[in-house]
Amino acid sequence: MRKLFVAGNWKMNLDREQSLVLAGQLRSEAGGLEDITVAVCPPFVYLKGIADVLKDTGIGVGGQNMHTESSGAFTGEVSGGMLRDAGCEYVIIGHSERRHIFGESDEFIAEKVKKALSEGLKPIVCVGETLEQRKNEETQKTVSRQFESALQYVDKDDMAAVTIAYEPVWAIGTGRTATPQQADDVHALIRSLAGDFFDPEVAEGLIIQYGGSVKPENAADLLGKENVDGALVGGASLTAADFLQIIEAGRTNAKS
Ligand code: 13P
Repeated sequence: MRKLFVAGNWKMNLDREQSLVLAGQLRSEAGGLEDITVAVCPPFVYLKGIADVLKDTGIGVGGQNMHTESSGAFTGEVSGGMLRDAGCEYVIIGHSERRHIFGESDEFIAEKVKKALSEGLKPIVCVGETLEQRKNEETQKTVSRQFESALQYVDKDDMAAVTIAYEPVWAIGTGRTATPQQADDVHALIRSLAGDFFDPEVAEGLIIQYGGSVKPENAADLLGKENVDGALVGGASLTAADFLQIIEAGRTNAKS
């Protein structure tokens, strides 16, 4: 059976009431989660409340970011330990919105991945090219650089806790999805990088999610691809019905 992982990145959306309603719907309606890994990543302030609602459901909770230090004078930041404390199992690191809007560097992201693992969190490490980079045929170069940099401090033995999310920037929130073949090509590249950088066993076990306008309508085709092991879902994870359908597409593929 294939291992698949579907995660929802709520970004800076929903209020407290809406978050709790959504989590409650997932709690009561997501069944059969033994075949698939599922997580949601709400804004920091709702993490604890959502983690409480989803306790014992098999649906994990993750932060959308964290700092490299454990504590200190870093106004506005949140540490990995705090995420654990709030009930998180996962943390998204290096999302393109963090890279491009908040200027996070490859080196800072690498430090975060290392710190997340040392705090016992499972990082979901995002990589992906911009439209300009794709047009200039720099997809491979960009993704390779981001991958190798982000994982530079990770030991092979810790790779079982790491998920990679390939999120082409031009497909995020645009309604423009990479074709299943485009996604699979980059996922195959990432898998071969993992083989070269670590070893074939790491490459084979690595979960590589696709992110960028994943919707119920395209999820089955994307997740049907050999190297697409899950999805990191933005907009469509804000509606229980849509997110549940994407999970269902994943479950069907996990069984096949
Ligand atoms: P959308 O699914 O809204 O395109 O967002 C993708 C994403 O950035 C998930 O991290």
